Amino acid sequence: KNEISIGLLGLGTVGSGVATILQQHQQDLRHKLGVQVTIKKVLIKDINKERLSSLDPSVFCTDIHELLNDPSLDIIVEVMGGIDGAKNAIEEALKAGKQVVTANKDVMAEYGHELLKLADEQKCDLFYEASVAGGIPIIRTLEDGLASDRISSLMGIVNGTTNFILTKMKKENMSYADALAEATALGYAESDPSADVDGLDAARKMVILSSLAFSTEVHLDDVLVRGMKEIRDGDLDMAADFGYTMKMIGSSKKDEDGIEVAVEPVFMANSHPLASVNNEYNAVYIHGDAVGETMLYGPGAGSLPTATSVVSDIIAACRNLLLEVNGKRVHSAQHERVMKPESK
Ligand code: NDP
Ligand code: HSE
Repeated sequence: KNEISIGLLGLGTVGSGVATILQQHQQDLRHKLGVQVTIKKVLIKDINKERLSSLDPSVFCTDIHELLNDPSLDIIVEVMGGIDGAKNAIEEALKAGKQVVTANKDVMAEYGHELLKLADEQKCDLFYEASVAGGIPIIRTLEDGLASDRISSLMGIVNGTTNFILTKMKKENMSYADALAEATALGYAESDPSADVDGLDAARKMVILSSLAFSTEVHLDDVLVRGMKEIRDGDLDMAADFGYTMKMIGSSKKDEDGIEVAVEPVFMANSHPLASVNNEYNAVYIHGDAVGETMLYGPGAGSLPTATSVVSDIIAACRNLLLEVNGKRVHSAQHERVMKPESK
């Protein structure tokens, strides 16, 4: 095999970042993988929309089933968003024997276990690094880097939009509405930004992280969610007067009573590293029995940072495809890595 073909579902903020990286880093990818990686088809909704991407319009299509069942495509990359349509697309792609990459936390928080199980049954991979904390490799860190440890708690800023809004309100005295408009213009906010400001997006990410960290099934209903509405006028100034910074914090801990997961506005002492995570940046603090405390920090939203994670997943999928071509079975039960059988 000397070429791997991608079908891209969506060419918005993340999709166009993926196209840019695959084009600009084409030589490096060929060097790393020994094959050419090419976007062969792109699903869009509005064929008349002006696109910044330099992709040849002949790759655009509007028929999702035609794309998902195209036998020449090896990897399907779902960056179109939404829940039901995206979940169906991932299922259809896996059933067609494709490797799948997604950035969709809405789908992974609600149906991740089911889809990972289907991927295992189909002997395909389903990668979702970009679904939490954009450009930070947090999923791989929990799956692989810290696989040896027993994690007891996670705490972090996992939504870029709300962190951007709080930073602009505090540092530039910007109004909430103007800061949200800027986050939307920069491509950080969800298509329905109430998911960001009401804490639902962060809650979904905490479901994904907690399921991985504690090797169990955590559900959205189990998360206590308090959004930005809970922040009262004057809270930001009062926090500053007393040496604190208001942050939207996701937290998750496991003890003998079970697992507790929450997303809420918290007064963080300025001496805490999370207090100085600004703009769209995210950070996740992990406490493990053996490692002690460790923190990952980086851009949590935006086109190229998020696309970096998506393209790294594409590289992982390519590597597995190439090993398969050489006759080795490389599929390694992802679902069981997330939810170990004994913890059911
Ligand atoms: P956008 O709204 O910018 O882009 C969505 C793309 O998908 C558009 O190109 C749109 O087509 C296409 N699309 C949507 N629905 C359909 C449909 N039914 N049929 C055909 N095409 C469709 O979204 P983002 O790129 O911001 O987000 C994509 C995913 O990545 C979401 O799941 C999001 O939560 C996730 N994500 C986003 C991050 C970010 O910073 N933005 C960071 C991490 C994850 P058209 O262009 O024609 O309208
Ligand atoms: N809307 C999300 C955020 C995108 O602001 O964090 C990244 O997942």
